[in-house]
Amino acid sequence: MKTRWYKDAVVYQIYPRSFCDSNGDGIGDLRGIISKLDYIKGLGVDAVWLSPIYKSPNDDNGYDISDYRDIMDEFGTMSDFKELFDGLHSRGIKLIMDLVANHTSDEHYWFSESRKSVDNPYRDYYIWRKGRGKDGRKPPNNWTSSFGGSAWKYDETTKEWYLHLFSRKQPDLNWENPKVRKEIADICNFWMDMGVDGFRCDVITYISKKSGLPDGKFNLIFCGEEQYVVGPRYHEYIKELNAESWSKYDSFTVGEAAGITLSNAYDCIDESVAELDTVFSFEHLCVDMYFMVIPHRFSLTKFKKVLDSWQALPNTCQNTLFLENHDQPRSLGRFTGNYSGHRYEAATALAVAMQLQRGTPFVYQGQEIGMTNCRFTDDEYQDIMFRQIMNIVKYIPFGKSIARYCFSRRARDHARTPMQWNARENAGFSSAKPWMKVNPNYKFINVDKDLAEEKSIYKFYAKLHAYRKGNEAIIDGDYKDICPNNRNIFAYERKCGGKRLLVIVNFKNKAVKFNLPEEYANSKAELELSNYRGGGIFMPNMRLRPYEAAVYSLKSQG
Ligand code: GLC
Ligand code: CA
Repeated sequence: MKTRWYKDAVVYQIYPRSFCDSNGDGIGDLRGIISKLDYIKGLGVDAVWLSPIYKSPNDDNGYDISDYRDIMDEFGTMSDFKELFDGLHSRGIKLIMDLVANHTSDEHYWFSESRKSVDNPYRDYYIWRKGRGKDGRKPPNNWTSSFGGSAWKYDETTKEWYLHLFSRKQPDLNWENPKVRKEIADICNFWMDMGVDGFRCDVITYISKKSGLPDGKFNLIFCGEEQYVVGPRYHEYIKELNAESWSKYDSFTVGEAAGITLSNAYDCIDESVAELDTVFSFEHLCVDMYFMVIPHRFSLTKFKKVLDSWQALPNTCQNTLFLENHDQPRSLGRFTGNYSGHRYEAATALAVAMQLQRGTPFVYQGQEIGMTNCRFTDDEYQDIMFRQIMNIVKYIPFGKSIARYCFSRRARDHARTPMQWNARENAGFSSAKPWMKVNPNYKFINVDKDLAEEKSIYKFYAKLHAYRKGNEAIIDGDYKDICPNNRNIFAYERKCGGKRLLVIVNFKNKAVKFNLPEEYANSKAELELSNYRGGGIFMPNMRLRPYEAAVYSLKSQG
């Protein structure tokens, strides 16, 4: 039976490779996470989402799975997993796994069988086509991979091509094959029978491709998306998976939904449709990136417009509230501009602005101490996306310098630097040289230091999470942006029954005047939460300090 516990939950995302290394090989692991369970509990979160921990050759850090029922050697064993899992549950924290079902690793048994011959029983587990041109040496269509280059790879053995929307080592599964769908449901049931509480479904909107795999339209960078984002049989597949697996448990599913529109989202997350519980839309993260790749100026009004539109979904649709994950640059700086002198205020302002909207908040490891982007040389980037794209642009004049600039702002590596625990060597992440560069700012941005400070970002997050808990106006209340055109301030009302809250956040690193809209100007209000000591005075013409964030509860007019 679904209790929809996620409606009043906060989820903490862990990228295991970069969280904590317990055995000194420079790679984060499950026992590392186990050693930090009290830290996670202290943040007041209700669930943890673990990025993939399954067996994988790590072409894309675990998003290329070679065995869905076993743990990656570098991360530990199944018994470590069970201990982690019990440790979470005994602290009242649920566990969400990453379900990567659009593709497998090319080292998965299914694929090694599939590529052997055209009549192998696993052939139809993947998407194989003959090439174009006289000798079939041209890819079957013009689609591009999200990591750059053609989405097809020629395979000598059978002289056919297979589709890979990501790297060559991530062949796409053929969801038209009912056996594939059954395998995926079985995998979900395997983990849920063990007690896992749900799944974050990787690129789930890509699973149904238009039949005939028609050529796509080129935008500046990619080609083919309109042929597979929320494709023709998408809803059918998800409904089936829900019926065969998720609905049998008190589960929570969140779909990673690049390219999803508001109306698509309504069709797949409304409680009445029994598909996914919620989705990650990336529309608000495109405000400062064209095609999620090319950086440009951040505009608060555009940002609010997108978020407001998602808030307008009916209460039977649950939103997600997030600014970071393992694929995104860090939010400090990105959405705050230069925050010098006000790191704490800027980080907490973002937390308030996001978390008090209607939806399930997600906090990404390190966000709770204000970790930032890092500077990398070409050799220091680890992500396949960087390597692959650099390889392609080297043939274009200025290609490398343009790409370098884009990656300096956009690279996924920014989120993947090791967690900064303390000011000791390797930031306390590992006793050995970490797999990935540590951000040199760990000496002054780290957990120990943050916790010792009066202005602790972690403690503010914990307070905010406690404030949200059971707060009906926040969980279920109506949402209204009270100044959508204001370029400095994000302010909204939340209302439920007689309870009315005003959330007011200054996004600028300077004092800003704010004239309350008339309808509130004569209200009386009480301060409920603030990121300033001696916080805020409620009056018709307010003056907000740099990154000041305040929540007022409105008293009846008088
Ligand atoms: C998702 C993951 C990303 C991965 C891709 C392919 O976008 O978040 O890290 O590279 O899917 O699995
Ligand atoms: Ca390790």
